[in-house]
Amino acid sequence: MAHSLKIFCCFFFFFLFSTLSIIPLSHQLEQHPLDSLTPNEFIRVQAIVNQSHPTTINDITFQYIGLNEPDKQALISWLQNHRPTPITAPPPRQAFVIARINHQTHELVVDLSYDNIVSDHIHHGFGYPLFTFQEQNGASQLVFNHAPFLAALNKRGLKVEEVICETFALGWFGETKQNVDLEAMKITHFRDRLVVPVPKAAGTDYRESEQKAPFGPELKGITVVQPDGPSFIIDGSRVR
Ligand SMILES: *[C@@H]1O[C@H](CO)[C@@H](O)[C@H](O)[C@H]1NC(C)=O
Repeated sequence: MAHSLKIFCCFFFFFLFSTLSIIPLSHQLEQHPLDSLTPNEFIRVQAIVNQSHPTTINDITFQYIGLNEPDKQALISWLQNHRPTPITAPPPRQAFVIARINHQTHELVVDLSYDNIVSDHIHHGFGYPLFTFQEQNGASQLVFNHAPFLAALNKRGLKVEEVICETFALGWFGETKQNVDLEAMKITHFRDRLVVPVPKAAGTDYRESEQKAPFGPELKGITVVQPDGPSFIIDGSRVR
């Protein structure tokens, strides 16, 4: 079962990559209103929000930027009138943004046709926006300079270079306290809960040299030929 799954996966990715590399080059398609934002649009959205919210200390972080999907009815009528020649203009292209600006969570809609902010709502309710990569990395590194954490490693007989830290959201338990203040990038609370035996590397079967079929040894190479090309078409962001 696992064996055939592995082969299936090989086939699948082979088809995917062999097709992806050929088709997008052959024809440039016009943008569909549901196409995700382009890298250039991401930068424009940031620039528009930055300009409209000048801060003295670069105090804006973007937690989320994505397409604000057009109104379904507007989309349907555009699709119906669109072919064979475009008669109606596409629905407005907008981005939905969650940003922390001066310690407040903003939910913004940015219009990319007019380069302006359509709505700007400050979130006062429960919950926090997603972590950014910078926040996750920053918080994970912070503990390595925290003496009680280093003492806790020592107590378990671990070296700093044997440990990695990851940043996870606490979830919402109705608590008002947080353990790391990401805006100040400070540890506000440390709790060393329990000591459990740490497994040693020796004698475990996780090593590559211990792997047996179907997880090892490696499968022999395989070649797939499609003389008439694949049976599907990738059309911009659409797969037909
Ligand atoms: C917007 O401001 C943020 C925070 O200062 C900065 O990291 C980002 O590069 C700026 N983006 C643009 C496109 O100006």
